[in-house]
Amino acid sequence: MAKAPSRAKVAILISGSGTNMAALLYAAKHPECPYEVVLVGSNDPAAAGLQLAKAEGIATFAHPHKGMERAAHDAVMDEAIRAADAEYVALAGYMRILTPEFVAQWEGRMLNIHPSLLPKYKGLHTHERALAAGDSHGGASVHLVTAELDDGPILGQMSVAIIPGDSADTLAARVKFAEHQLYPTILSDYVSRYDNPDWLLAKVEALALALPETHARTSHGSPGFRVGSEKTGKYFAYFADQHHGSDAIGVLVKTGGMDELETLCEQQPDMYWKPAFYGASGWVGLRLNRPGVDWDHVREWLERSWRAVAPKSVTKLMDVAAEF
Ligand code: GRF
Repeated sequence: MAKAPSRAKVAILISGSGTNMAALLYAAKHPECPYEVVLVGSNDPAAAGLQLAKAEGIATFAHPHKGMERAAHDAVMDEAIRAADAEYVALAGYMRILTPEFVAQWEGRMLNIHPSLLPKYKGLHTHERALAAGDSHGGASVHLVTAELDDGPILGQMSVAIIPGDSADTLAARVKFAEHQLYPTILSDYVSRYDNPDWLLAKVEALALALPETHARTSHGSPGFRVGSEKTGKYFAYFADQHHGSDAIGVLVKTGGMDELETLCEQQPDMYWKPAFYGASGWVGLRLNRPGVDWDHVREWLERSWRAVAPKSVTKLMDVAAEF
C-alpha cells in the first residue's frame, strides 16, 4: 500500500525582513518538499516578512512583547503555534531570548539559523567578529534550539569565503545567499529523518550495540546484530529497509511465538508487520519510518529479543547489574 504523502507542519518565527522565512516558504512550494509552512509569527506586527507571508496565503500572527513578562509572551506565541497545528518551529531572525520553558516544550522540534560557523561567534555581530579575527571564511549554521543561546546540536553548516575588501555588510549579504540555500535543505532533511534509512539504522545500531556482548554482522545484505562471541554468536535483531515489496523500514525482533506475532500485527498494523521468511519463525517487524516512534519501546524490544537468544551467563550479568 502506498503511503499517503504527509508534510511536516512548520511555524516560522521572525522579527525582521524575513528573507530566510521567504526562502523556507518558496522551497515549500515545491511539490516534493517534505514540510509546509502553516504559520508565520512575529513579536513585531510591523515585521516586513509578515506582509509577504500574508500575500502568499500563509496564516500570520503577531503579538508585541512590549510591557509583557518574557514567559507570558512566549506563552502567547506558543499558543498560536499550537493552534496552527505546527509540529516544528523554525526561528528565522526571531530576536527574542526564549524562556527555558518554551524551549523545553519544543525540544528536538525547534530549529534556528545563525550567521556564523558555530561554535564560533555565538550572539550578535558575527560578521564583524569573523573579519576582525582575519578568518578566511564566514558562514551560517542551522542548529536545534536548546536553553543555551546558539548552542544546540548543529544540523548543518555552509561556509562562505571572505573576499579582500569585505565589510560586515557585504559579507552579511553574501552569507544570506548561503543561509537561503542551507535552511530549507536542512529543515527538509530534519523533518524527513524518520524516512531516512541511514538515520534509522544509526539509531537502532546505537541501541543494539549498547547491550552487553553484542556485535554487528551483515546477514543476506542487511545489517544484523548478534549477541555472544564472533564465532558462536546469535542474531537478536535485523534491520530491514523496504524488503520484499514492503514500504516498511524497521527492525526485526523475536516474539514469544506465532500467536503473539499474529496478535501484534492484527491489533497494531501501523506499528508491526509480519516480515517475509523471518515471520515464519516468529520474528516481527517493528516499523520505524513513522512519526512518533517511542525509542524506549524500541530499546525494550531489542533487549527482550537479546534476552531470548543471549547465553545465560551474559543475561545473568545484566540482571546482577540491574539490582544495583
Ligand atoms: C539572519 O542572518 C539569521 O542568520 C539571523 O538573523 C538574520 C535574519 O535575517 N538569525 P532575515 O530576516 O531572514 O533576512
